[in-house]
Parts: sequence; structure tokens; C-alpha cells
Amino acid sequence: MAAKSKTTPHIAFLPTPGMGHLIPLVQFAKKLHDHHQISSTFIIPTYGPLSAAQKTLLSGLPSAINYILLPPVYFNDPPPDFKIETRISLNIARSLPAIRDAVKSLLDDGKKLVAFVMDLFGTDGLEVALDFGISPYIFFPSTAMTLSLFLHLPKLDETVSCEYREMAEKVKIPGCIPVPGKDLLDPVQDRKNDVYKWVLHHAKKYRMAEGIILNSFKELEPGPVQALQEQEDNKPIVYPVGPLIRMGSKLDDNLEPNLCLKWLNEQPRSSVLYVSFGSGGTLSSAQIIELAFGLEMCEQKFLWVVRCPNDRISNASFFSIQNFDDPLAYLPKGFLERTKDRGLVVPLWVPQAQILAHESIGAFLTHCGWNSTLESVVNGIPLIAWPLYAEQKMNAVMLHEYVKIALRLKVGENGLVGRVEIANVVKGLMEGEEGKGIQSRVRDLKEDASKVLSENGSSTKTLAELVNKWRNK
Ligand code: UDX
Repeated sequence: MAAKSKTTPHIAFLPTPGMGHLIPLVQFAKKLHDHHQISSTFIIPTYGPLSAAQKTLLSGLPSAINYILLPPVYFNDPPPDFKIETRISLNIARSLPAIRDAVKSLLDDGKKLVAFVMDLFGTDGLEVALDFGISPYIFFPSTAMTLSLFLHLPKLDETVSCEYREMAEKVKIPGCIPVPGKDLLDPVQDRKNDVYKWVLHHAKKYRMAEGIILNSFKELEPGPVQALQEQEDNKPIVYPVGPLIRMGSKLDDNLEPNLCLKWLNEQPRSSVLYVSFGSGGTLSSAQIIELAFGLEMCEQKFLWVVRCPNDRISNASFFSIQNFDDPLAYLPKGFLERTKDRGLVVPLWVPQAQILAHESIGAFLTHCGWNSTLESVVNGIPLIAWPLYAEQKMNAVMLHEYVKIALRLKVGENGLVGRVEIANVVKGLMEGEEGKGIQSRVRDLKEDASKVLSENGSSTKTLAELVNKWRNK
């Protein structure tokens, strides 16, 4: 039995706990399994019990994809600026002995581990892979542009002495359009902070990886992908295998999926604006009020996923957003009644992959998380960019100025996106001339996305090339 499994390639994955990173990595593992009969094991660091969404995602795995849950790492008294990237990085660092034990148990079990694929913030696992003689890979669940910044960051750090947001000139990242310093990744915005040190720590280790698996494709980001593939010594080799997205998954079954889909069935084609801020995005109370009035003023149909305001919950995250009172209580008085004929407001979480695939959706007001963006692109849905955190501002710059499939909302001097701005931009995209160009561009990209995933498409071939390399180890 052991002799047989020694000849069959097996992959170990090291994800980080957030849904935005776990979802595409699970898609990747499923693709390896469905198209290439490659089995795998997820070694999962945790903070405590899994969330309902994580449990459902993992329970839907085929039997050839296993998982090992590592002992939880608790942070009982976190400092106020304890950013998510620091928490993730410390979680991995403190889980290293358990990660080692898990890898060893797979080898002891006779698995032929041909690669150890870790999340973008899991680079401490690189040494574990090398110690066991396993090829280390990084899985990058975001844009080629952000990956290009990661690879360039150690050099940037040596040449820039001020805070990036104070730079007079835009930042030049290989292959990318110049980006204002204030729009770079959230965690690099305060160079004295621990979170910046962690991101730099990861960025410096990227070149130790044998390859980086990228959830994007060349037609979407031609400049950045080309720059990554032409970098010095071609190391690490970058494999664009995207878009890796869920289609009609079981993820949301326990969360009233039918309410939204039933309502969408009754709406005209391409008529509904979908409003959602990803797996952990929240707004302030004042911003929720502005958004509600903006939706009222724009006179379009809308489906809005509402969460409790972040000034009412501490340490807003996916794990805490679920535990609070009724988010609808924070809407302006009479809003639901006034908009009931053209709007549906749903608390917390909806089956987004199915919603974006519905023919009634005409536009997506999004925080620009990369999974949300790809889910929109594959369905040919134009975007309104409202970035909140992580790399979302960079994504917004790229989607608005480079790919040209998004309008971007302007933040007012009071730090809020105003109701008039919201109404004008929504109308502009759904009814105006500017919207027509964006719609046509995103329809072309939908075709491109479908082509790259077809039998002879670039992402399919790139994945086959990587698998071939792994099979020959
Ligand atoms: C963050 C980053 O900003 C993102 O770019 C990065 O790649 C991952 O971490 P996140 O808030 O998780 O993003 O957003 P996103 O990348 O868009 O992923 C959210 C996922 O959750 C999507 O697949 C989306 O379909 C799903 N989701 C979200 C739902 O199914 N229902 C919801 O109500 C909200």
C-alpha cells in the first residue's frame, strides 16, 4: 500500500485562516484533483474553532483532499494596532513545530510530497519544506500587480526613506502603472509598525520559492504578468493559473441562499446593482447612512449585503461580524419601506458566486477583494470600486485606470463617500455613456477568462506544465 502511494504525487498546502485566501486555494486543490488526479492535504493553522463558512467549505472536499487542523494559537490580549497580517504571520510562526510534525506525518504515512504550497503570508513554511527536501511554492491569491510589488518591496525599502503615502511621485512597480504611495498595500503604510516588518519579512523570502502560483491571467494584467515572467533569472517562476473561482459551491447553504436568488429571478436582465464588501469588509455608522441614501437617490434596483457598523464592533473581522445584533437596525429610518419595490437588503452573508452569475445583476459595487473581482470578471459584470483595506486600493487603481472595468468612488474631505457621489457613479455606470465602454470591456474580458480556462487556454497549459514538473520529481 505504502509502495503504491510513494509513486503518486501528493501536495501539502499551508493556507492561512481567512476565507479570501482559503477559497481560491481550495479551488486550486480541487482542480489538481479533478483534472490531474493529484491528491493533497491542507495543514491548517487556526485561532480557535472554525467558522461555519470554513467548515462548509472543508466539508465539501473530495476524499482525496484531506486536512489537518493545527492546535489553535490564541492572542488573549492583542494590542489595538494588531493588524490581520501580523496576526496571520504570528499564527504561522507559532504553529511551526506543529507544521513540521504534520509534514513529517505525511511522509511517515508514505506520501510522495512533490511540493509544499504555502499562502502568501506563510513564508516561514519555506524552511520546513527545504528541511524535508520538498519543493517550496507560494500561492498568491491576489493580483500580478501586488505580487510584483512584493518582489520589488525589498529594493523599494532600501531606496525610499519616508512613508510611502508621503512620496511626491507615484511608486513605480515593474510592469505596472505607477501607483500613488497612499494607494499601496494597507500594511506597508506605517513603516515603524510590526505589520510592515512582517510584510517585508515575507517579501524578502519570496525568492526562496521554486515557483509562485498566481490567481490571475495575462489578458487581465498583461504588463504585470509579462514583467513577472521576464524577471531576472526567472526565479521564482510565476505560474498564472487563474481565474480560480467557485461556481455554485455549497458554501452558503445554511444562510438563506434562496431569498436573494428568488428575488433576482423576478428582476429584469442586467438591472440590479449588487453591493457587498467581501468576507470581512465593514463600514462606519455614518457611512452606512450615506450609502443607504445614495442607493435611494440612484433610482436603480439593488441587492445590498449589510453588516453592523465597525464603530459598534471591536476588532471587526469575519469571525466577529457574525456575532452582533441586527445590521438592518443601523439603516436610516424608513429606508427599507421606501425602497422595498426595488431593493433587497440582506444581513451578513449571501451566496455571492451564484448571485454574480445571475443574469439580473448589472453592476457590482465592491471592496475590490480579488476573489470578488474575478467572480465579477468571469460573469462580465462591471465594477464600482470602493476599496477598504489590504491591497484593495491597489486593485482599485488597476481596475479603474489600467484594466478600465471599474469606476472609482471619491472619498470626501470628511472621510466619507457621499450620497450624491454614490448616486452619480451608480447612474453613470448603469445608464451613462461611460458605463457602455466599461461594459463592453468587461464583456471582452469574460471571453478572455473563458478562453484561458479552455482546453488549450494559457491557464490550463500553465497548470499542466506545473503538474508535469511535479510528476517528474
Ligand atoms: C481579502 C483581499 O482584499 C483580497 O484581495 C485577497 O485576495 C483576500 O483577502 P476578502 O475580503 O476576503 O479579501 O474578499 P475577496 O477576495 O473578494 O473574497 C471574498 C470571498 O467570499 C469571495 O469568494 C466571495 O464570493 C465570498 N463571499 C463574500 C460570499 O460568498 N458571500 C458574501 O456575502 C461575501
